[in-house]
Amino acid sequence: MGQAKMIDIYIMGKKYEVPSDLTVMQAMEYSGYKLIRGCGCRGGFCGACGTVYRTPDDFRIKVGLACQMVVEKDMQFIQIPFFPANKKKYDIDEFNADLPSLMKLYPEISRCVGCNTCTKGCPQNIEVMDYMAAAIRGDIEAVAKMSFDCIMCGLCASRCPAEEVQYYVAILARRLFAKHVVPRASHLEDKSKEIEEGLLDEEINKIVAMNKEELKNLYDNRDIE
Ligand code: SF4
Ligand code: SF4
Ligand code: FES
Repeated sequence: MGQAKMIDIYIMGKKYEVPSDLTVMQAMEYSGYKLIRGCGCRGGFCGACGTVYRTPDDFRIKVGLACQMVVEKDMQFIQIPFFPANKKKYDIDEFNADLPSLMKLYPEISRCVGCNTCTKGCPQNIEVMDYMAAAIRGDIEAVAKMSFDCIMCGLCASRCPAEEVQYYVAILARRLFAKHVVPRASHLEDKSKEIEEGLLDEEINKIVAMNKEELKNLYDNRDIE
């Protein structure tokens, strides 16, 4: 395998030379940054590594996940591991799976101008504008299902001209849907009851006493449906 060629990148305006096959996250570390924020799973799942960048051939500001994007020649970037957003606190039992509940907590959803910027910025390829449209219609099920893969990275909100907090609207819809619409899983309730009654104590204690190797074996040989 040949060695990757070196390219220039700009991290917070400062130039660094890095191998061209690194991700943005790896390039930061290669350049000497120790990531104590803006880095979690390194696999595109945790949403902690939101990044804003520009490339010289394009006037547009773009967003992506540092652990998922490969560096480009002369790209400039900065991380936004957290995007400021007002998160409402609520007791899920006091709200129903309907439009009035969404509107009470997030009345700003009606300000959406349908520009699709959120969808274009979503690293999960979620149709964010469409789930926001479903939210405005009060279709909680559609919002819950369409936003299922959201990793709460905040990138959709970072460029929204209507200042929406799409991912908080979406998680509210998923919670309302799970709490008020999806039927209770009876097998889970049965299992919880068995645990409460101590019927699984012996089995649990056996697992607790296992060493790492035994646990690994147990996990590797588990039944998969
Ligand atoms: S919907 Fe928004 S917060 Fe969720 S993954 Fe997409 S860009 Fe990130
Ligand atoms: S970026 Fe904001 S205004 Fe544009 S479609 Fe998405 S939610 Fe609506
Ligand atoms: S580090 Fe978790 S998504 Fe990038």
